[in-house]
Amino acid sequence: MQGFTAHPVMRVSGTMTVPGDKSISHRALMLSGIAEGVSEVSGFLASEDCLASLAAMRALGVRIEQPSATRVVIHGVGMRGLHGAGRPLDMGNAGTAIRLFTGLLSAQAFDSQLIGDASLMKRPMERVAKPLREMGADIRTRNGTPPVDIGGSRRLRGIDYRMPIASAQVKSAILLASLYAAEPTTITAPAVSRDHSERMLKGCGVTVITDGLRITLHPPQRLASQDLTVPGDFSSAAFFIVAGLLAAPPPGLLIQNVGLNPTRTGLLEILRRMGGQVDILNPRESGAEPVADLRVSASPLHGIEVPKDLVSLAIDELPVLFIAAACAQGETQVTGAEELRVKESDRIAAMSEGLAALGVVHTALPDGMRIEGREKGSAFTGGTINSFGDHRIAMSFAIASLRAAGAIEIRDVANVATSFPGFVPLAQSVGLGLRESA
Ligand code: S3P
Repeated sequence: MQGFTAHPVMRVSGTMTVPGDKSISHRALMLSGIAEGVSEVSGFLASEDCLASLAAMRALGVRIEQPSATRVVIHGVGMRGLHGAGRPLDMGNAGTAIRLFTGLLSAQAFDSQLIGDASLMKRPMERVAKPLREMGADIRTRNGTPPVDIGGSRRLRGIDYRMPIASAQVKSAILLASLYAAEPTTITAPAVSRDHSERMLKGCGVTVITDGLRITLHPPQRLASQDLTVPGDFSSAAFFIVAGLLAAPPPGLLIQNVGLNPTRTGLLEILRRMGGQVDILNPRESGAEPVADLRVSASPLHGIEVPKDLVSLAIDELPVLFIAAACAQGETQVTGAEELRVKESDRIAAMSEGLAALGVVHTALPDGMRIEGREKGSAFTGGTINSFGDHRIAMSFAIASLRAAGAIEIRDVANVATSFPGFVPLAQSVGLGLRESA
């Protein structure tokens, strides 16, 4: 599948569930792999990114059964039970996998090399290499990017690290290495980022103390196995939350079983401030994570200046927020989001090019975007979008078809499979006019 054609539609409706959470699925494989005993994970995200982590854990000597696409049974080998893969580990397109494995493998008794696809080979790795080197790890990058070579048999020490960026991947890489350090490690962050690692480590019996933006991990003797049910990925639900808001009223969308970890749901707060109505139904806990069903009602939106403290809580959802902003009355401005420049694509440049192709008046900023919205009528013309091989760019522009005057052709969409297998049929099932093209 090379492209999508998104034909204009007015309405979406129905009840849906989205696939499991990507961040939690990666972490479940890694932590269960070094735990003692068997862990069963249901709701696992069988996307290309998570399957790269699964293949890597197998290559490192962990037996993993997959009785169905979304169920994995992981036979933990204990903290010191991994063995060298004997070949480079291919992380595909997965930034989370390459950052977290760099942390985990820096503490092992064998050498490793991590590689990935063309996009991953351009992603910055010094952000994790630097603190890990401070811990005593032997890590080499090529001008700051992969391949990442990791020397084994290093004795790691605990550090007190002030992270320059609010990155859950950096934080998690340090936490994974610090499991093996001689002393406790403390990380201080400039802002909140997703805390799945902290929650899951606690579930494995590890002492992790969170005090505001400071986290301290005490190295354990062992990790306990834990069964886990992975909630639906909020970042995948985000496309349909925006779709439900932009659709003509009624009848609305119900998205069931969505993970609502407060470190992930900045988009909900932003959309509410823009006038969006999203009701949280049946809130409950699943594993160590809050989960609920979301009822999304078609809503007129107005532009806002997005508070900077919500940016790290909505970092993966900003591309689809830009689509919502283009359909809002007045101007929306996002700043403080320079991290978008170093995601699977330069998401500010990619969104800017796409918005321009569809006639949206906007200004790309070094660290964000200013968008002139059009609440009434069509916010978008038809046109052709280059997704730059970035799953979230491709899916965001598919949602734009709810306010487009003509068909939107979206190119280079194969990487939608890295995070959202089944996106096209699911989108069709709620009424989007999405077709795959060769
Ligand atoms: C992720 C953290 C975020 C996010 C990525 C997944 C994770 O990256 O963009 O899609 O699972 O830890 P950063 O922590 O680098 O911002």
